[in-house]
Amino acid sequence: MEALRIYTEKPYHLQGEVTISGAKNAVLPAIAASLLTAEKVQLTNVPMVKDVQTMLTLMKKLGAEYDLNDKTLNIQVKVVRSPEAPYKLVRAMRASILVLGPLLARKGKAIVALPGGCAIGSRPVDLHISGLQKLGAEISIEHGYIIAEARRLKGAEIEFEKKTVTGTENLVMAACLARGETVLKNCALEPEVSDLCQLLVKMGAVIDGIGEETIRIKGVKELGPAEHQIIPDRIEAGTFLVASALTAGNLILRGVEPAHLEAIINKLLISGAKIEKLDRNSLRIIGGEEIKPQDIVTAPYPGFPTDMQAQFMVLMTQANGTSIITETIFDRRFAHANELIRLGANIEIQGDKAIIKGKTPLSGAEVMATDLRASACLVLAGLVASGQTTINDIEHLDRGYEKIEEKLRALGVKIERLENNNNNNLGVKK
Ligand code: UD1
Repeated sequence: MEALRIYTEKPYHLQGEVTISGAKNAVLPAIAASLLTAEKVQLTNVPMVKDVQTMLTLMKKLGAEYDLNDKTLNIQVKVVRSPEAPYKLVRAMRASILVLGPLLARKGKAIVALPGGCAIGSRPVDLHISGLQKLGAEISIEHGYIIAEARRLKGAEIEFEKKTVTGTENLVMAACLARGETVLKNCALEPEVSDLCQLLVKMGAVIDGIGEETIRIKGVKELGPAEHQIIPDRIEAGTFLVASALTAGNLILRGVEPAHLEAIINKLLISGAKIEKLDRNSLRIIGGEEIKPQDIVTAPYPGFPTDMQAQFMVLMTQANGTSIITETIFDRRFAHANELIRLGANIEIQGDKAIIKGKTPLSGAEVMATDLRASACLVLAGLVASGQTTINDIEHLDRGYEKIEEKLRALGVKIERLENNNNNNLGVKK
């Protein structure tokens, strides 16, 4: 297992420019969408992160041929060789569930392992399943696998009981090749859902209501080739914005989509940071000398993203006063709080609320990352914790952040990647 170590000899003030990568949560459904056609799909601005590798491993198993060079992915599934997404891959990455809809629509059959438990609480896929059933699929659960079959899916009206990002994506993809019209109500509004729809339209899908709660899809017989640029990663951008706010830094972020960052920017402005739009895709953030406390409630887009909750918790530990974070999307998504407490934070968890009393000095220690965004939170904590902070199990971080240590190093952070030889004897990776 690898680790990251951050050395904080004196307080950092992050300075410089950072280029934000393509969105992990947009590229994964886009790759799955390539299952809907026998033609080639080209994706650019692909983030070079572990989840993309995992998705490509799965796609190869299903029959895809691809090459990935310099953030450009060419992928083609001439024939679907296997309809099965094995447990090993689904367990490594829940988003593997995104092949369920496309496989069923293209091949008439999908066998996808149930994702099961996850470090951030129970994450069921019942809405994916019931939606596909409404499109006419026969679905059974056997031996931990979802087994779905349908000769050709049939359009239907489906209202999601709850907003679900990958659930909306799975249903939109399946409906593209269904017979007749599908109306999806209470769809997730996340920009990654819209990005997928834009790609599908380029492939020949007929979709109305992109970016709205009601999406109408007129099924077509087949889809064709397309080229598409993946949108910027708003969570990576948010993480660097917090890094600057936290360290009274002065950062320029390039390659961002400011409109997708509104909820995050509003909270950072309240915290005392100054943010200015430099051009269409660039922002400058200057962190304030004093960080103000505030309350945050996570919500589906355009609300405050649950994927930024852990990073804001670090910021709150450095705010003068009490802040309350309410997590409404996932239960048990506060594992990072215990690690922050080990660094000296004053945090109390009460059900879905975290009460953070600041400002507390943090001191470096060895900590363990439990999920992707929790890892990002611990990296941020390392920037303000005095001395050395060693973040273990960073494979979670590598799932979603491209070259994070290189990007931080360029902003003045002393950080290195270590190889953990499992007896706590951490040696520097060559
Ligand atoms: C996606 C994101 C993830 C983000 C999350 C919420 C990807 C690859 N991942 O995950 O980074 O944290 O959105 O913004 O895009 N639910 C059900 N039944 C279902 C599906 C979901 O009850 O069938 C519930 C979940 O338990 C959760 C809520 O709906 O409480 C939202 O989950 P969902 O939007 O589906 O999350 P993901 O798509 O898995």
